[in-house]
Amino acid sequence: MAGLRIGILGSGKGSNCRAILERIRDDSLGAEVGVVIADVENAGILEIAKEFGVPAVYLPPGTFRTKLEPGAEHALVDALRGAGVELVVLAGYMRVLKSPMLDAFPHRIINIHPSLLPKFPGLEAWKQALAAGERVTGCTVHYVDAGIDSGGIIAQREVPILPNDTPPSLHARIQIAERELYPEVIAQFCR
Ligand code: GRF
Repeated sequence: MAGLRIGILGSGKGSNCRAILERIRDDSLGAEVGVVIADVENAGILEIAKEFGVPAVYLPPGTFRTKLEPGAEHALVDALRGAGVELVVLAGYMRVLKSPMLDAFPHRIINIHPSLLPKFPGLEAWKQALAAGERVTGCTVHYVDAGIDSGGIIAQREVPILPNDTPPSLHARIQIAERELYPEVIAQFCR
């Protein structure tokens, strides 16, 4: 069943993208994926898109490390619009978006982050939570704004921190929660 048309952006292995595509295949969710776009040419997320028969596009990001060059960001807007995308879903996308994207898709870009925001924004949030001696962490789906992991919170899922947890064991448990939460939030958007 067709529905809200989403575009997924990623830079890495794409386990959240896979979870979303599987849930759409199995339960529809009221969504369809119009395109998957990566800023890394050999990102696993592009292979996953192809596996599911979804257009997979590599868009060169330009020379900056943490944001897109303006021309690249305009090309991203064009690619998403060209695919008819209504909701942009960031799934491990490692660049900060600026006004071309934020203006083109106001309140229509969401991200998933591996902590209970506003605690532990930024990189390797599970390590930050462990180092801070937290008993509970989790994941957050939030709107994307011009800051880093700072937009309005849409939904959260708690994950306990166990006494023997290491960064990899905690990260793995958070990612299981992410792969449940993100498709649920997308389904909510569709409703
Ligand atoms: C996710 O764990 C998410 O928390 C963060 O980036 C990671 C991407 O993983 N934003 P994957 O590419 O979806 O496997």
